[in-house]
Parts: sequence; C-alpha cells; structure tokens
Amino acid sequence: MTQDEMKLAVAQAAVEYIKPKLTADSIVGVGTGSTANFFIDELAKISHLFGGAVASSEATAERLKGHGIDVFDMNSVDQMEVYVDGADEFDGRMNLIKGGGGALTREKIVADVAREFVCIVDESKKVDLLGNFPLPVEVIPMARSQVARALVKLDCMPVYREGFVTDNGNVILDLEGMQIEQPAELEATINNIVGVVTNGLFARRGADVVLMGTPNGVETIS
Ligand code: A5P
Repeated sequence: MTQDEMKLAVAQAAVEYIKPKLTADSIVGVGTGSTANFFIDELAKISHLFGGAVASSEATAERLKGHGIDVFDMNSVDQMEVYVDGADEFDGRMNLIKGGGGALTREKIVADVAREFVCIVDESKKVDLLGNFPLPVEVIPMARSQVARALVKLDCMPVYREGFVTDNGNVILDLEGMQIEQPAELEATINNIVGVVTNGLFARRGADVVLMGTPNGVETIS
C-alpha cells in the first residue's frame, strides 16, 4: 500500500467516523495538508449531511468551496462538532507536531473550538518522541530575531523558513533537532515568548482520536 493509499483510507475512515455525529446544522472544522485534502474530497460526498465548514487555511477554504461546501468565518461559529486534520508527528499519547504547511495558528484555533479533534495520519507520522520533524513557530515579522535569540536560550535551534509568509502575514521559525520529552510544558514556554503567535505543538489540546493508516488497515487510537 502506498502512502497516498493510506492517506485515502484514513480520509474515508474519518468520514465514516464523523457521519453519525452530523446533523443538518453541523459545522465541520477542516485542516490543511495532503491528508486533509483527501478528507475534503471524501467529505464532499456527504455534503448534504451537514451545514458547512470552517477552514484552517486559505488553501483548504478554496478546496472546500470548489466542492460547493459553504465555508463559514470562524467568528460566526460558536459550536463545532468535529475538527479533522493531519499531523506531521504523533507520539502515540495524542500529542502532535503540526504546521509543516504553515497553517498551525488557524489549525490551533479551530481545534480549540471543536468538541472533538480527529487526527488522520499514515503510520510514517508515528514516533516515540516528538521533535525529529522541525517544530514550527509562527512569529510576528518584526520580532523574528528577538524570538530566535530567546529560542536559542531554550536550547532550540531556530531556522528561518525563508520566502514563506503565513495566511496571517507572519513568518515561521522551524526548531530543528528537538527531543521533546514534555510537550505540554514546551508548548506553553514557547508561546510565552513575546512575538510568538503560537507553535506547532498540539499537546495542551491534543487529538481526541487518531485514525492511523497502516498497510493492514486503519487503526483507531484514543
Ligand atoms: C499544516 O500546517 C500541517 O499542520 C499539516 O496538517 C500537517 O503538516 C500534515 O500534512 P500532511 O498531511 O501533508 O502530511
């Protein structure tokens, strides 16, 4: 089974998982990335079963609209049944690294509102310890150097993601070579640096359920 076949399998499993929870008024939060794209295409097949979606990025909003799914502004939504998104790393204890595509802040906002966060990954994302994938930190542009210096003091190795601007007009510093033993603590510590918008650790609000594609089928972890 190829990686794309596993991504398609978890996308289909996610649609089956959320289907019984949806009503005509339900709003579905939708993530960003290649796995989320498979999910959007599968979600479109049941678009008659829910009211619309909130997107975690401009790219996702465009793809949803392309399928004729109504995309709501986050500010007009106070309840969301479920949020479905991929991850760059998953540690088996519901902690994640996200933001490889740079959409981490909007992803975190949507995940925070959702009653349930369903994470969809293929087995290549499963690790024992988070940090091999560079941890993205979204930063206000004028604070880039100052935040980088503060991160170095935390023993992090920030690398500026050159030529990349987030949907919010900010920049990304990727923290390389991390071994993250205490994700919730590190998430809070980095977010406390002035000039940081947020970082890609999803530990304080991790996944509620992970659907993981393997060559033998989709595993459900909760
Ligand atoms: C986007 O910013 C990320 O958080 C993605 O959700 C994550 O990188 C997973 O992407 P893939 O499904 O493309 O691996």
